[in-house]
Amino acid sequence: MRELRVELGTRSYPIYIAADLLQQAELLRRHVRGRQLLIVSNQTVAPLYLSTVQAHFDGCAVSTVCLPDGEKYKDLEHLNTIFDRLLIDKHNRSTTLIALGGGVVGDMTGFAAACYQRGVDFIQLPTTLLAQVDSSVGGKTAVNHKLGKNMVGAFYQPRCVIVDTATLTTLPAREFAAGLAEVIKYGVIADLEFFAWLEANMAALVARDQAALVHAIHRSCATKAAIVAEDEREQGCRAVLNLGHTFGHAIETCMAYQGVLHGEAVAMGTVLAADLAHRMGLLSTVDQHRITALLVAAELPVAVPRQLDLEQIRDTMQVDKKVLNGRLRLVLPVALGRAIVTEDFDAQLLQETLAAALHA
Ligand code: NAD
Ligand code: GLY
Repeated sequence: MRELRVELGTRSYPIYIAADLLQQAELLRRHVRGRQLLIVSNQTVAPLYLSTVQAHFDGCAVSTVCLPDGEKYKDLEHLNTIFDRLLIDKHNRSTTLIALGGGVVGDMTGFAAACYQRGVDFIQLPTTLLAQVDSSVGGKTAVNHKLGKNMVGAFYQPRCVIVDTATLTTLPAREFAAGLAEVIKYGVIADLEFFAWLEANMAALVARDQAALVHAIHRSCATKAAIVAEDEREQGCRAVLNLGHTFGHAIETCMAYQGVLHGEAVAMGTVLAADLAHRMGLLSTVDQHRITALLVAAELPVAVPRQLDLEQIRDTMQVDKKVLNGRLRLVLPVALGRAIVTEDFDAQLLQETLAAALHA
């Protein structure tokens, strides 16, 4: 088993990574302080893994909430079903919430834990690759509002993250590839050696080789943990984790969140960010091509959907969360393993990047 820590003083916590960790009763029990717990999952994940987790807590008062599956249920109404269950079952402040699922379940459970009786313990058991390398680590929790994604939330850290890589065997192929977009992100922004390892081992990852997965998830979480330890509340360097996300969010929004997964949009966005960096003379042609080739090897789409409109994408980018004082900030790769966050880019070159992508 690989283990690392997110260092945040008294709120530090471990991340455990290996196949079949959900089978390890003692590991799960060790991080539950009281005798009450609530496991939150969804209609897809619960039939696969809930009984395994639940069985470890014989003798405890275990409540469960099974949410409907989908981003569209990540809202205040469904968050409230978690509070209803906690109150109906008389959970007190020593309860522990356990998130068993992908990023949607994790974000909602974390936010519920942050709010319930002003904050109770919670544990992340992420079951998608995206959740295992990104959303379960770092304490961003939220639900969506009809006027914006993730607009109601809190920074609230879990007590631990337990990554069972065997859960990825049941993940649909597109969801798996979407997680690989975030894995590749860590190589591009911070870890040249890992980028080269990904180039050499992408076929093993796509085949879901467990040893390769443990290595890739460990390395990804190590980078995220280091960045979060330095800038928990995204006042500075944490923004680099948003490589491809400003373009990606604009693509998702313009597609009305239909037909494109978040990770797929991030892959397209990463290609656009690399293209802009190249046009600005910041990124070499070779490095730009290596980024695109790795995303393609991960079976990710890299071309922007043809039906999108250039002006619409540009306007949507302006309302991104990362706009600071009216200025759009972009994460741009400047070499493999290094990216910058900048407001200082040429609007004309951005226009050219978008035009080239849409008319390719
Ligand atoms: P998701 O939670 O919707 O899961 C994707 C699909 O896979 C769902 O249908 C789910 O039921 C299914 N699934 C999950 N685990 C499975 C398994 N082991 N086997 C079979 N099916 C399984 O999506 P996601 O990509 O995990 O997360 C996306 C969410 O994460 C978004 O809401 C996004 O805003 C959020 N997010 C948060 C952060 C953060 O820092 N908190 C970072 C990135 C993304
Ligand atoms: N997913 C970006 C972050 O956690 O900051």
